[in-house]
Amino acid sequence: MIDITDRVRNKDLQSKIVSAEEVANWIQPDWTIACSGFTASAYPKAVPLALAERMKKEPFQVNMWTGASTGPEFDGALAEVRGIKQRLPYQTDSKLRPEINDGTVNYLDLHLSESAQLTRTGFIKKKIDFALVEACAITEEGNLIPTTSLGNAASYVQSADTVVVEVNTTQPLELEGMHDVYVPLDPPNRLPIPIVRADDRIGTTYIPCTPDKIKFIVPCDIKDHTRDLTPVDDNSKKMAEFTLEFLNAEIKAGRMPKQLLPLQSGVGNVANAVLAGFVEGDMGDLIVYTEVIQDAMLDLIDAGKLKFASGTAFSPSPAGMDRFYKDIDKYRKYILLRPEEISNSPEVVHRLGVIAMNTALEVDIYGNINSTHVTGTKMMNGIGGSGDFARNAYLTIFYTPSTAKGGKISSIVPMCSHIDHTEHDVDVIISEYGIADLRGLEPRRRALEVINKCAHPDYRPLLLDYYERALAATKKAATPHLLNEALSFHTRFLETGDMHK
Ligand code: COA
Repeated sequence: MIDITDRVRNKDLQSKIVSAEEVANWIQPDWTIACSGFTASAYPKAVPLALAERMKKEPFQVNMWTGASTGPEFDGALAEVRGIKQRLPYQTDSKLRPEINDGTVNYLDLHLSESAQLTRTGFIKKKIDFALVEACAITEEGNLIPTTSLGNAASYVQSADTVVVEVNTTQPLELEGMHDVYVPLDPPNRLPIPIVRADDRIGTTYIPCTPDKIKFIVPCDIKDHTRDLTPVDDNSKKMAEFTLEFLNAEIKAGRMPKQLLPLQSGVGNVANAVLAGFVEGDMGDLIVYTEVIQDAMLDLIDAGKLKFASGTAFSPSPAGMDRFYKDIDKYRKYILLRPEEISNSPEVVHRLGVIAMNTALEVDIYGNINSTHVTGTKMMNGIGGSGDFARNAYLTIFYTPSTAKGGKISSIVPMCSHIDHTEHDVDVIISEYGIADLRGLEPRRRALEVINKCAHPDYRPLLLDYYERALAATKKAATPHLLNEALSFHTRFLETGDMHK
């Protein structure tokens, strides 16, 4: 077993160090295990892998709660043995996704800012069976030093009577001090969250815990399985250029300071391209108040353009992680990790006036957004934090390439087949064809703006035809629709494999 005694600073606790197999053998079917982890950062690895091994020989299922998605040693390994019964609040795993869509897994797709409260107050299950948390170290007092994300870990530890800690020796001790742990009180005792600037510290640098709660401590030497960066594609580059153009116009119009307002950006190709665009652009002193901190943030720091970044997870590519660790003393001054309840807090997002930039699967002509369900039924990933930011931001931008699946799907449709963000939450839509600025437009003008600025030219005539017939049939109703045709693009795709036909 790897020696972790130097990281378990409370000598009495060292007697609780056991193997991952021992913990896996102690777990009972149907238990609810509330875990650390947000993106491929700071999720437990050794115990889920050992549990999956046990499940191969002795099939059973457990409920797994986390902060968001995890890495393959967690969702992937457990999905492979069909070991997950209930999963919340978000995932992105290609092995787990089919099980959500074939009835094996009961998936609760939650606003991330609300998931801790929902689990803390016992709506979903009265009591979790134990909290499983990755840590850098355990202090003399039994407190846990978090690693590369906070997610819901602090809230889960607070709710649990029993805590199992994976002490990960690949996570450097220099991470200590990069966290700000604050768990709000629940109503009716909740107080204002006292963050007025993105770099305000309001809590502790550790997850509060006590030695008596800690049942087992497991050594782990598996690194966070973060993903390589994919090269920025042309569509994303174009959308990034439009973003800079749009924001520069906002500055010129006096609606935004020249260093902008705090930025939130989703994950994936478009988000990377947009942030990379800021590296090239001439805005400086940028502030980020977001969920996930990725490679582009390191680029912004190196370019002298980033003043501060607050998030809940640090999840760069493996190369970005090496770069961060090499120069940790420099980068750590710019980065703070908070519980997702705080990084995504509607109250704080609203107060800071965040610019929210997220990606949609499809957008309808009136500005409603589907971020989660392919053709209205199959779960892709989940809403994640997009709703936390979209509803409460100062400016809400959604991105979508105009088409998907080689042009067979138009991402602009008459009516979304599922709605995560309503027209009331969406200010601007950007595709590789242009910028639809929906602010101040009623639905009829919005439809023309979305079709003419963002739709693929191949689909514009079909969309305009739908809109004009809907306008005539409803005698210019507030939101013209042909109810028997509103989902015809989707049904055409399901029947023929192509929305054109
Ligand atoms: N209909 C059907 N499939 C579609 C589609 C549509 N309208 N639009 C995209 N897709 C498919 C793509 O073809 C691709 O499929 P593949 O994996 O088989 O290649 C897949 O969806 C992902 O699309 P991609 O273009 O690679 O987008 P992405 O990686 O930028 O992800 C979302 C887009 C919407 C899935 C992703 O941003 C997401 O999960 N968002 C919700 C959560 C969120 O916003 N989090 C950030 C908040 S802080």
